[in-house]
Amino acid sequence: MTVNRLFREAPLWVIASHNAGKIKEIGALLAPYSIAVKGAGEMGLEEPEETEKTFSGNALLKARAAARASGAVALADDSGLELSALGGDPGVYSARWAGPGKDFALAMQTVEQKLAETGSADRSARFVCVLALAHPDGAEMVFEGEVKGELVWPPRGTSGFGYDPVFVPAGGSETFAEMDAAAKTAISHRADAFSKLIAAVLQP
Ligand code: IMP
Repeated sequence: MTVNRLFREAPLWVIASHNAGKIKEIGALLAPYSIAVKGAGEMGLEEPEETEKTFSGNALLKARAAARASGAVALADDSGLELSALGGDPGVYSARWAGPGKDFALAMQTVEQKLAETGSADRSARFVCVLALAHPDGAEMVFEGEVKGELVWPPRGTSGFGYDPVFVPAGGSETFAEMDAAAKTAISHRADAFSKLIAAVLQP
């Protein structure tokens, strides 16, 4: 069986994430396909420590751990925000900049403060998303997506999650947190990675 068929014909995909915002967006992106999905938390799976230094390394680590623990196909998303003027930070550490309390008001403030400290007028940013699919038998696939934009201050809007209130996608005027979920899902880094996954795995 080809690798893509192995994934397509699996009865269930475990979403290897405990982030409710991500699980909701991933569920919406997979809704048109006949794949049952379940969150890792719902299945009682533990969150592995993200010890890799790249998005793809961490996505694979999370997908492999969930596939091993559940015996099912696992899909992991590792994503984050990169600022050009900060040399790509917070990058793979995007969640950790919010501290143990997952305080994104603090994380957004920290990004803004570090940008101010550089003295640079360059506010260009991008969200990156790497999706990793892992089969308990060892097969793996990886897809990367991005959306370019810029960082704004102060934060605006209440939808979405994480850094959404300070990110305006290129060509737009609203932050991701001011857009409704469908408008964000149409252009996001996660949607970009998903369109590659769907083309390679779910479209026969
Ligand atoms: P991880 O992939 O679970 O390590 O964490 C990714 C972190 O990047 C999230 O906790 C958010 O802080 C940030 N992030 C990723 N995708 C988005 C998004 O679509 N909107 C806002 N923040 C995001």
